[in-house]
Amino acid sequence: MTTHKPIKKAVFPVAGLGTRFLPATKAIPKELLPIVDRPLIQYAVDEAREAGIEQIIFVTGRGKTAIVEHFDVAYELESTMSERGKDMSVLDPTRATPGDIITVRQQVPLGLGHAIWCARAIVGDEPFAILLPDELMIGEPGCMKQMVEAYNEVGGNLISVLEVPEDEVSSYGVIATGAQVSDTLTEVTGLVEKPKREDAPSNKIISGRYILQPEVMRVLEDQEKGAGGEIQLTDAMARMIGNQPFHAVTFAGNRYDCGSKTGFVEATLALALEREDMGAEVRAIAERLLAR
Ligand code: G1P
Repeated sequence: MTTHKPIKKAVFPVAGLGTRFLPATKAIPKELLPIVDRPLIQYAVDEAREAGIEQIIFVTGRGKTAIVEHFDVAYELESTMSERGKDMSVLDPTRATPGDIITVRQQVPLGLGHAIWCARAIVGDEPFAILLPDELMIGEPGCMKQMVEAYNEVGGNLISVLEVPEDEVSSYGVIATGAQVSDTLTEVTGLVEKPKREDAPSNKIISGRYILQPEVMRVLEDQEKGAGGEIQLTDAMARMIGNQPFHAVTFAGNRYDCGSKTGFVEATLALALEREDMGAEVRAIAERLLAR
């Protein structure tokens, strides 16, 4: 078996303005909105760490520094809590080892492809992961770990996919599928960003997790604007098909589209119901509300 270069770096595009969640996101980055008591970005970072990622790269922008604060030591908070003998383990996942988190800025919102390209100097000449924190992926193991396991088999480029109803495909990147490699792995033969329903090659959408070879940065260099007038990562990936292996991993787990309000509410409810400390109470509340 050939060994593939390990995936140690992950890029998190977090420069978006979050206009869909205004006014909540006027002064708070949307990535810090909590699902129960953990901010969205924390779920994505934890998922990456579980998959063996060591370096976190935030592509950020103005007004988004609170994301970096979240992963810093909160000195006043911690000393007060420790004086009062409080359990601080809840803060453990928010503590980054010095040097683990790097930020670059995307000065202008030119699209996801452009955001990823902004991280090119940090990514360097290594394969890397991308996680879109809007997409909350809950599984055991997590989505990125499932992808890294697939990557260790086939190498090259991988994207996570899932099926959606046909009337939803135009909101996403959609794949055309080739040969089935295993139960969860298929070859990708084409990619199209936000196609019209009638032009979509399938109902399998890209669900916000990628493992890509560094060559994508060179492709992004001269990528023209695509859907929505933005530089699309999907278009750059499409140009790599044929030159490099490209596979889709069907995620085994639950996915919540927290970029939409209803998806956000669904995630909150689902995760609260699953919690040992509050699930029963939340179920009783939900039943009471439904009976109104
Ligand atoms: C982005 C990607 C798209 C993908 C989606 C997943 O779109 O461009 O291919 O399917 O994330 O959420 P956006 O949500 O930024 O419009």
